[in-house]
Amino acid sequence: MSIATQIARLDRVESRRGAKKRSRGSVIDLFCGAGGLSHGFKLEGFDVVAGVDIDEKCRFPFERNNDAPFLLEDVGTIDADALGERFVSGSPRVLVGCSPCQPFSKYSQGREDGRWQLLEHFSRLIREIQPDIVSMENVPRLQKFRDSAVFDAFVRALRNADYFVDWKIVYCPDFGIPQSRSRLVLLASRLGPPGVPAPTHTPDRYLTVRQTIGDLPPIAAGGAHATDDLHRCSALSASNEKRMHASRPGGSWRDWSEELVTACHRRETGKGYSSVYGRMSWDEPAPTMTTQFFGFGNGRFGHPEQDRAISLREGALIQTFPPNYAFVPDGQKVEMKSIGRLIGNAVPVDLGRAIARRIRSHLDEYGK
Ligand SMILES: C[S@@+](CC[C@H](N)C(=O)[O-])C[C@H]1O[C@@H](n2cnc3c(N)ncnc32)[C@H](O)[C@@H]1O
Repeated sequence: MSIATQIARLDRVESRRGAKKRSRGSVIDLFCGAGGLSHGFKLEGFDVVAGVDIDEKCRFPFERNNDAPFLLEDVGTIDADALGERFVSGSPRVLVGCSPCQPFSKYSQGREDGRWQLLEHFSRLIREIQPDIVSMENVPRLQKFRDSAVFDAFVRALRNADYFVDWKIVYCPDFGIPQSRSRLVLLASRLGPPGVPAPTHTPDRYLTVRQTIGDLPPIAAGGAHATDDLHRCSALSASNEKRMHASRPGGSWRDWSEELVTACHRRETGKGYSSVYGRMSWDEPAPTMTTQFFGFGNGRFGHPEQDRAISLREGALIQTFPPNYAFVPDGQKVEMKSIGRLIGNAVPVDLGRAIARRIRSHLDEYGK
């Protein structure tokens, strides 16, 4: 089915769902980005009431797809009282957030990044707003960062404020997400132990790259589809075109002839980077999407058989954004770099849904 047909069908379903909407709780999303996490909550019947981020590029996709105001503010300085007043009174109050992952990620390679302190501001806002439920998502390495001191302080602050806390490292394919991403998911509740999302897919049912993007029309490197503006991909230099052609699904630069190997891979220190400049495999989940997934040299982001990196549309589908999720207003130019960053930074929508479903069941268990 073409993307245009899928969009028309989803729009009809959403307008029917909107007509019989009953909110399951109200949600404020700190570090909301383009709204991947929020959208998961919206699709599970929660009322998203605000998203906070310092990147103005997030405003359009967040507001258009989540029917909620975007607040261009710094989580480090935002006023807790004014923010807390946005919750709907009488409805369970859910504060969610995924602070920037880069300070804790393996890609930062030991470089110090002060943004880890944003997690302390998340903690401050929880203490000041006192929501009923909290959800925090980040990379698994957050647990080990600075000898676990940062994560331990976050959990301790929650417990000292009378929250029950549970967390788990979740593997996205277990939740029907076609991507081998692992994430730390923490839930906290004032009602009782909130539990963690339970897997929905066993390994024999993992969604694959083929099932997710296999039907999309072919495009050339540097090109775009005539009617789907998001289905566009980066150009390749002449040497990268040859490297792409020599790459095989699931392989790496080690498959190339000597003259194609880059200087950085020839150095002893570069030999560990086996997964950059590779093609995805059709019949496995994709690798973890990053903010640079649209560049062939940035990871195993080559299309399984076309000689190009994956398109923004393909990245968005792998991140489980529905096909009708709009990233720019109709007719506006789609900028590869900024839209690619929003897509790669997002919590997969279906992981947001799994978290939201766990919270919904938890609220049901406690009669809320
Ligand atoms: C991992 S992304 C969040 C993705 C989002 N939850 C989603 O699902 O689409 C982190 C976000 O934090 C934002 N950010 C970074 N520093 C911030 C700050 N001081 N205050 C608010 N937002 C900030 C970034 O602009 C980025 O959009």
